[in-house]
Amino acid sequence: THAQSLLEKDCTTITPPYQSLIDNLRRVRKFLNRPLSLAEKILYSHVIRPEETFASKAKVRGEVYLQLRPERVAMQDASAQMALLQFMSAGLAQSAVPASIHCDHLIQAVEGATEDLKRSIVTNQEVFDFLKSAAEKYGIEFWGPGSGIIHQIVLENYAAPGMLMLGTDSHTPNAGGLGGLAIGVGGADAVDAMTGTPWELKAPNIIGVKLTGELNGWATPKDLILNLAGKLTVRGGTGSIIEYFGPGLDNQSCTGLATMANMGAEVGATTSTFPYNARMRDYLRATGRSGVAAAADEAASQGFLSADEGTDYDQVIEINLSELEPALNGPFTPDLATPISKFGDFVKSQGWKDEFSAALIGSCTNSSYEDMTAVADLARQANSVGLKTKVPFLCTPGSEQIRATIERDNITKSLEDVGAVVLANACGPCIGQWKRDDKQGEENAILTSFNRNFKSRNDGNKLTMNFLASPVMVTAMAFSGNLSFNPMVDSIPLADGSSFKFSPPTRQDLPEAGFTPGNPEFYPVRNPQPQPKVEIVIKPDSQRLEILEPFGSHFGEHNSRGLELPPLKVLLRVRGKCTTDHISAAGPWLKYKGHLTNISENLLITAINDEGGDMNVAFDKDTNTSGTIPEVAKRFKARNQPWALVVDDNYGEGSAREHAALQPRFYGCGLIVARSFARIHETNLKKQGVLPLWFSDKSDYSRIGSGDTIETIGLADVIEGKTDAQIELRVTRPDGETFKIPTKHTMSADQLKWFSAGSALNYIRYTLN
Ligand code: F3S
Repeated sequence: THAQSLLEKDCTTITPPYQSLIDNLRRVRKFLNRPLSLAEKILYSHVIRPEETFASKAKVRGEVYLQLRPERVAMQDASAQMALLQFMSAGLAQSAVPASIHCDHLIQAVEGATEDLKRSIVTNQEVFDFLKSAAEKYGIEFWGPGSGIIHQIVLENYAAPGMLMLGTDSHTPNAGGLGGLAIGVGGADAVDAMTGTPWELKAPNIIGVKLTGELNGWATPKDLILNLAGKLTVRGGTGSIIEYFGPGLDNQSCTGLATMANMGAEVGATTSTFPYNARMRDYLRATGRSGVAAAADEAASQGFLSADEGTDYDQVIEINLSELEPALNGPFTPDLATPISKFGDFVKSQGWKDEFSAALIGSCTNSSYEDMTAVADLARQANSVGLKTKVPFLCTPGSEQIRATIERDNITKSLEDVGAVVLANACGPCIGQWKRDDKQGEENAILTSFNRNFKSRNDGNKLTMNFLASPVMVTAMAFSGNLSFNPMVDSIPLADGSSFKFSPPTRQDLPEAGFTPGNPEFYPVRNPQPQPKVEIVIKPDSQRLEILEPFGSHFGEHNSRGLELPPLKVLLRVRGKCTTDHISAAGPWLKYKGHLTNISENLLITAINDEGGDMNVAFDKDTNTSGTIPEVAKRFKARNQPWALVVDDNYGEGSAREHAALQPRFYGCGLIVARSFARIHETNLKKQGVLPLWFSDKSDYSRIGSGDTIETIGLADVIEGKTDAQIELRVTRPDGETFKIPTKHTMSADQLKWFSAGSALNYIRYTLN
């Protein structure tokens, strides 16, 4: 039942329900009497109860929490593991929304596509087997290793104008190239959508980017976003959606827009979007989705897929495409943008060697047919005068469809003729899966058409400087090997004494002969039905995967305090900044993402204990000993001693990483009292059954310390729905001194139900049975 032809796709399940969205938006407009931006139309039309959300709210953006119902979820192989383990513990027979799994992050680039794929399948077999079996059981589309990179596959198959989708990867916004809203989230958020729980988002601000003029010559959509990243910086988009508009959009290909949306993540934007245009229609048709195109045409005719006249953006940035110059961004941060004409001087001023050691093109950001035709044109120009690339030249196709189409159209051959090595259709060097032995510990530069360039991201060497550029810049410069080479003006000397200068590349956005799907084995069964009899494959002795045991309730026979928490021992008082990375470190721990026991060994290992100022130290006052934080937490767990944390301001900022909430809960944490919480993490704690409380008076933070015992007073009233009930903490010091501390909480009625059940997933399981 593999899809043999792109035309076999069933459009009915992948078209957003335009009419009901438009109807819902009408209800919203009763309360919001003003022109709406495109992003607002898409977002607000997905709000579950518009009347409750918008009634009497003068300001929405940046203020109101929206309860949303996304239409689709996509997960990559690294983050899908914990998402699925959590989903399993909800006890549902199938996902509430269509979902897909993509095996791309775990594939390591060593020598080339075929061998790399074989080897990575062996190394990661147990993870792939688990993901596949879970996909079969719950009716999720499973794109196996080698099928392609999540964002490219989503664009080719699932994204649609006006759609709201979630993906467990930060570059999920790539799908915005088709005029929807695609948002990168943590696994717990994906599980919300998959269990039919409303997904919450604070209404973002809207940054309008007005495009005028026309790209020409060497400038590409990648240069536009590189330029915008320079303007906005890595924080400039936080809490905002970037919405593009203006006449400059008319000539942009859908895949070019996807590149721009992809890298909106680099400025911290929630996502990016564009009004529906004819190029999107062409792309939908070319990828076998004429039905979606027709439905989108109809929705657009009702004004749904573009902003209202007179939309008021929170900020407007205008860019004239005619003046845009190609840029190289980096090293080590994606917002350090230098125009190509100044790049040589920049390199000199930094004292770096005027050379680079590898050129990498493709990835989820830049492997469209248009990108590949443009780089092939440059390769042919160079090949016609006998030039080969001066440095290793690696190309990562984004999907099997792209790989097969560029092979058929002789693009691959043109690249190989000048020295390219084609890697597997997977993330590879883009996510550090690049086995590169010859440059370890050496300062060197690489050019990539990827999207991120933090230290060590590509080859694990923190001295490798990655400059992000368009695929055409990366390719043309690969023939020189010098960082100061500007292909727009400079020539390359040839052996016969003459010299060669590139002409601006020509490109074609869609293949004349249509896309070819390639190897049918890489395609999943479409619209699969759940198969409840399938056994989920997890080896009992696995070090990478572990079934998630549901967390027990805090209440019941073991707790004589009724609906108050049992007495909790304070594990430590955390000082200062404590991000989700401090709570659950990444790096080498990533391999344990699907194994809660193993990954919990990293709990808070970079947090500072305010009593003494040391990192990763906790005191066990009952035994008068100390240990690392995970060690002491584990001892408490072994003693069946529930515990609490006292934390500082903005606890849990950084990301939606659900491990940062799962791990403390796993060791027995029932309560975290903070000066303040980062909202997403606070919600994640609630989902896992940890009670987050805020100090009413922030100075009370210093009054509680390790070894103190905390009892809640008033929690029972709050759970029983008594309005105005407050929760106080009775603190008992080891020497017997007792005092009370007032707190505030942000638990909604639904969240209190989750808490009473022990976790949101327990609640879902109980209500179903
Ligand atoms: Fe992410 Fe790069 Fe893969 S941005 S999805 S790691 S290709």
